[in-house]
Amino acid sequence: MGARMSKPAPKSFHVKSFGCQMNVYDGARMAELLEADGLTMAASADEADLVVLNTCHIREKAAEKVYSDIGRIVKQSRGRQQPMIAVAGCVAQAEGGEIPRRAPAVDIVVGPQAYHNLPALVADAAAGRKALDTDMPAISKFESLPKRRKQGPTAFLTVQEGCDKFCTYCVVPYTRGAEVSRPWGAIVDEAKALIDAGAREITLLGQNVNAWAGDDDAGRRHGLDGLIRALDGLPGLARIRYMTSHPNDMTEGLIAAHGDVETLMPFLHLPVQSGSDRILKAMNRSHTRDSYLAIIDRVRAVRPDIALSGDFIVGFPGETDADFEATLDIVRAVKHAQAFSFKYSPRAGTPAATMADQVAPELMDERLQRLQALINEQQQAFNAALVGRRTEILIERNGKKAGQRIGKSPWLQSVVVETAAAIGELVTAEIVSAGPNSLNGVLAEQQVAA
Ligand code: 5AD
Ligand code: SF4
Repeated sequence: MGARMSKPAPKSFHVKSFGCQMNVYDGARMAELLEADGLTMAASADEADLVVLNTCHIREKAAEKVYSDIGRIVKQSRGRQQPMIAVAGCVAQAEGGEIPRRAPAVDIVVGPQAYHNLPALVADAAAGRKALDTDMPAISKFESLPKRRKQGPTAFLTVQEGCDKFCTYCVVPYTRGAEVSRPWGAIVDEAKALIDAGAREITLLGQNVNAWAGDDDAGRRHGLDGLIRALDGLPGLARIRYMTSHPNDMTEGLIAAHGDVETLMPFLHLPVQSGSDRILKAMNRSHTRDSYLAIIDRVRAVRPDIALSGDFIVGFPGETDADFEATLDIVRAVKHAQAFSFKYSPRAGTPAATMADQVAPELMDERLQRLQALINEQQQAFNAALVGRRTEILIERNGKKAGQRIGKSPWLQSVVVETAAAIGELVTAEIVSAGPNSLNGVLAEQQVAA
């Protein structure tokens, strides 16, 4: 960067986000920022003068993807002006100046806590100046971002960032920094702006969202449950969700909220990672199988129908057959409604990367397949149990066939319904059939008429 030919100042942009929902949120805010700066959103990367790759560093495969993407952009732009390329997100934070050294087509590197500076970095790059910013400033980027603009019925709202837990396999504490909670007032204002812009459902986001803490306008201290209770009163907001949570921050107050806050949806993403206490200890998870199951029991006591979701890692260093069986056991005990599972990926700089007894890739493959088969079976069972039940669906988009719409149930399942209801409307439907990945519903009124 710097010493070579600069590219012209871009007029259009395309943001491509990888990885977690926080990246999706950041990508949307980058788009708003670039639009406020006078650029227009291009339909695809091929048509854009500026391509922002908003990257994920969590596993090696995700982190390497950025380089193949850069190669593709360069190849596809042959015969025309190569677009300006910005690498944002956690790979930018972790690899910094290494990125343009390895991929000289990259013009800008910007970390997840610095992207409010994107317009200035674009100007720097166009002027041939160095354009790298991976600072983690004390003043949060949120202060300098434009107001939220019009979007669909569901919205993400980042309320917390960073992680202090230091699980031994994970890069997040290094790429996203320490746990920080956004202030109460800023969150309530952003939620109101999102509702004004058409949101009916808001998902509160954070790497450790349930570690959120802050003072309300009267100076009273609250945890996430207090924030949820405040948002519950906002006119126009029909649904609240939150993710991702850590078992250690699952407070009594938050559990109680699942019992009595009507807009809080019956869905909890609470990663356990492994069912073996020995592995949980080596992961530095600071909870055990039993303490995790005790939380689930307490949540189910106040909200028996709650859908439980989780994350699992198979093949953590030292994981034996017995440890893996314990993971299958905890999945059977919890009866997850859905879950994400991954093969352990060693990440440079994390304690687990240098632990003895790394598990062979073939064994990881086999374990992942067995775990996913079990999770799929349970997902199917959870879905099938809803057949015959009436439930509310938030219409999110059009279906494949004319007259079809796709919405979400309270338990976050996709439901296909035939209805003239507009996107953003809530309809009541009876679930008539269930597949592994979606349900079919019939509008309650149509059924009465039939
Ligand atoms: N290898 C595999 N999976 C990982 N995760 C985090 N770090 C790693 C890693 N090094 C998984 C965890 C986490 C999810 C977001 O990604 O399950 O909850
Ligand atoms: Fe990573 Fe553990 Fe923090 Fe989750 S809690 S972001 S897995 S270090």
